[in-house]
Amino acid sequence: MTPHGQSHLRGPGRSSTTGTSRTDADQRDRTAGGNFGEADWRLREKVAAQLIRARDRSVALTDAVDDDDLTRQHSTLMSPLVWDLAHIGNQEELWLVRDVGGREPVRHDIDDLYDAFQHPRGDRPRLPLLSPAEARGYVREVRDKVLDVLDRAPLEGRRLVADGFAFGMIVQHEQQHDETMLATHQLRRGAPVLHAPPPPAAVRPPAAAEVLVPAGPFRMGTDIDPWALDNERPSHDVHVDAFVIDTAPVTNAGYAEFIAAGGYDDPRWWSEVGWAHRVKADLTMPRFWLRDGDRWLRDRFGVVEPLPPDEPVVHVCFHEARAYAAWTGKRLPTEPEWEKAARFDPETGRARRFPWGDEDPGPEHANLGQRHLSPAPVGAYPAGASPLGVHQLIGDVWEWLDSDFHGYPGFQAFPYREYSEVFFCGDYKMLRGGSFGTDPVASRATFRNWDHPIRRQIFAGFRCARDARPEEAT
Ligand SMILES: [Fe+2]
Repeated sequence: MTPHGQSHLRGPGRSSTTGTSRTDADQRDRTAGGNFGEADWRLREKVAAQLIRARDRSVALTDAVDDDDLTRQHSTLMSPLVWDLAHIGNQEELWLVRDVGGREPVRHDIDDLYDAFQHPRGDRPRLPLLSPAEARGYVREVRDKVLDVLDRAPLEGRRLVADGFAFGMIVQHEQQHDETMLATHQLRRGAPVLHAPPPPAAVRPPAAAEVLVPAGPFRMGTDIDPWALDNERPSHDVHVDAFVIDTAPVTNAGYAEFIAAGGYDDPRWWSEVGWAHRVKADLTMPRFWLRDGDRWLRDRFGVVEPLPPDEPVVHVCFHEARAYAAWTGKRLPTEPEWEKAARFDPETGRARRFPWGDEDPGPEHANLGQRHLSPAPVGAYPAGASPLGVHQLIGDVWEWLDSDFHGYPGFQAFPYREYSEVFFCGDYKMLRGGSFGTDPVASRATFRNWDHPIRRQIFAGFRCARDARPEEAT
């Protein structure tokens, strides 16, 4: 994935028992390191807080289950949870302890075990992995060294460390693996172990079902977001023809109509490759849906419950999303269309960081960060709408787009080709916006996610778009 799907961070120079307590960070001795200015210290405090927040989540996700569940493979699509945990620590060691810190390796002998490129997920349970206790001890030892590096290392002079980029990359990597581990929890069988308050109710639905996004140039991508990853750069002008986009993601109720209308039985709505997959995989409904007489249920982290009609549909693959859109006479948005709908401010002509503005996401803006364990109903986040009135672009569900993964014009791999470039032109479709399981630190409106078009274990849904009719476009 991205990181979300593929989790491909790789070390430099080569092709709660675990957590650090808040007290540790709060008491870090500001005199221990270099003679840094106030802005520099603020950056270091921000980095430390983000590192700790990510680790708290990793610990919660792995402490929620016993050792058997940590070492078991819950699906061939996923790693054992204990692999994710040690891999998080190994990437942190490679980049922050060894590269940024210039320190001796903590565990040189396990680098290959936790290199995502060396071992496909299906093979990982058979590797001589660290035990849960060893993995917890390892990530704790790495983190202690990293907080010491953070107190001392210069955050200037190298592109890797400028604005704390390497730390930001590692924070995002951990949070992305946390979302992957959350998906593993969804695949796990057994009694529920995760708990969170329900998402907020709808307070104000979108004013219209769809809106026009006017034709014209749009500045896509970013040059200025300090923790933006290489594939989000550089910013560049794109021309987007006038189009019309749904103001909300497709809901469970809407998707159930597609099923009731025989959408899974009619090849007219499916692409050739999509229909072949539908038949081969015997797809008849979204993953984790259950039929109970004439009503729908869903299995959500071990809780079987009536399907909420107004929540965005989740756990559909690209092919299902595309077929639904065709059934409605529409199509999926392209990636430039999605980003323009999310960022374009018609008053100023500039692109915002987020639909609501430039400020970081708050609880009022979007359903992010695993605060809730499901998408929120349409209309739950009016404060997060874009200037054009498009709701819930950020959070709730990743949105499948009808675009392949490629580098922007002028793309430069950083800090290494395996972060993004080796995935260009592969069998991937783009996903945007983040889900309820995506942390705000990895949810910019420029953030790009990609995955195979048949994947359904990720927290992905979609919304529809269409070309503007001539009378609408003028
Ligand atoms: Fe990874």
